[in-house]
Amino acid sequence: MEVWEIEMSTAHTSAQSAKLILDGQEYDLPMTVGSEGEVGIDIGKLRALTGAVTLDPGYGNTGSCRSTITFIDGEKGILRYRGYPIEEVAEKLQFLEVAYLLLYGKLPTKAEYETFVASVNQHTLVNEEMKNFYVGYPRRGHPMAILASLVASLATFHPSPNEEEVELNIIRLIAKLPTIAAFSYKMSVGQPFVYPRNDLAYCENFLHMTFALPVEPYIVSPTLRKALNLLLILHADHEQNCSTSTVRMVGSSQANVFASVAAGIAALWGPLHGGANQRVIEMLEMIRDDDMDFQKYVAKAKDKNDPFRLMGFGHRVYKNFDPRAKILKGAADEVLGELGVEDPLLEIAKNLEDVALNDSYFVEKKLYPNVDFYSGIIYRAMGIPTGMFTVMFALGRLPGWMAQWKEQRETPGGRIGRPRQIYDGETQRPVPGFDAR
Ligand code: ACO
Repeated sequence: MEVWEIEMSTAHTSAQSAKLILDGQEYDLPMTVGSEGEVGIDIGKLRALTGAVTLDPGYGNTGSCRSTITFIDGEKGILRYRGYPIEEVAEKLQFLEVAYLLLYGKLPTKAEYETFVASVNQHTLVNEEMKNFYVGYPRRGHPMAILASLVASLATFHPSPNEEEVELNIIRLIAKLPTIAAFSYKMSVGQPFVYPRNDLAYCENFLHMTFALPVEPYIVSPTLRKALNLLLILHADHEQNCSTSTVRMVGSSQANVFASVAAGIAALWGPLHGGANQRVIEMLEMIRDDDMDFQKYVAKAKDKNDPFRLMGFGHRVYKNFDPRAKILKGAADEVLGELGVEDPLLEIAKNLEDVALNDSYFVEKKLYPNVDFYSGIIYRAMGIPTGMFTVMFALGRLPGWMAQWKEQRETPGGRIGRPRQIYDGETQRPVPGFDAR
């Protein structure tokens, strides 16, 4: 077996190259350092130089791109959009300002913001023909499946033949996703679709389309509007997570924005990713119906022979706390208080968090509540059904997906995403006839 040694130059920030010794031969691999001091070994030429590739299932050690959009320091619980701390962004901005910031790299001036909002408002309607799609789905069909397919279908109505249309399609998607999501909710509860009202702000419009009925006036509650704005902002981007990497991967083949985002929605749906918000509530309900015995579920989560995991706990990057979960825990108290909702699930969640945070299993493995842990309790109090929770996540994540898609597209020298593998299967052998199988 050949021996590899890898030697990096001294201080991380001043590192120039890493030395790799493979089978006695030395190779210099260039180092790269990000604006926050993150160090990467550039292995772009590794295979050409050595014939070897790296192996990193789950990509826990692989930087797939350079990006200027979002910074996370998982050890310190830091999340920043374009350099702005999430705590400040969540407190001071509207969701569409955040969308603009992520997409275009700067906060909009008042005039730029007004133009942006006006162009989003111009595109909130979906083509009437799209309504036909909804009737083809079973009433109980999961809204994430509907969302992914309808977003992909937008490409049939809005092709992207030139750059102008590409930019416009980004605006169109921001404008239309709430309409598509609200229509799928209406379909699931057997109510008539409520069309967008362009005199309403983004969050209010979604709440209007979701909860209004043609038979009576609907006034959007300021508590719901504020809560939704916060939830969408906290979900708006999270650098190279599973769904965003999917959007980039699909986009790397030069697929259009609708196809790329539809793929991201599909990736988000999984219970280890955005689908966890639905699973958290289902888990809390299970505990409620099981005599509130949360200790039993903590024990199950620790049992290696039991596939059960505490949903809403753990994160690939955060190893201290998830700053979004911290904000949402406070918001859950506030929103439920303002709405006068008493939900036993909030108490169970807090108890579960306390037990887990003081248990050596969770402490040693650095498992903390993530963004999905408290978001569902707020959505529930807002009257949004559990099946729609991951759709709400997608509404929030949309600007991040498109900002990443756009950044990749605009970065010179981009290549199609195409990882290698280490093949472990049979070596070459002849195909036998039926009599020899
Ligand atoms: N409950 C119990 N044990 C857990 C949990 C959990 N929620 N999460 C991780 N662990 C354990 C694992 O069993 C593993 O133990 P081991 O080292 O003894 O084998 C160790 O902690 C590390 O876990 P991994 O699965 O290797 O961590 P990874 O970074 O691959 O996965 C993930 C992260 C998927 C978030 C994981 O923590 C998990 O499944 N959490 C529950 C689902 C969830 O809440 N997902 C939402 C994440 S946030 C988001 O995507 C928006």
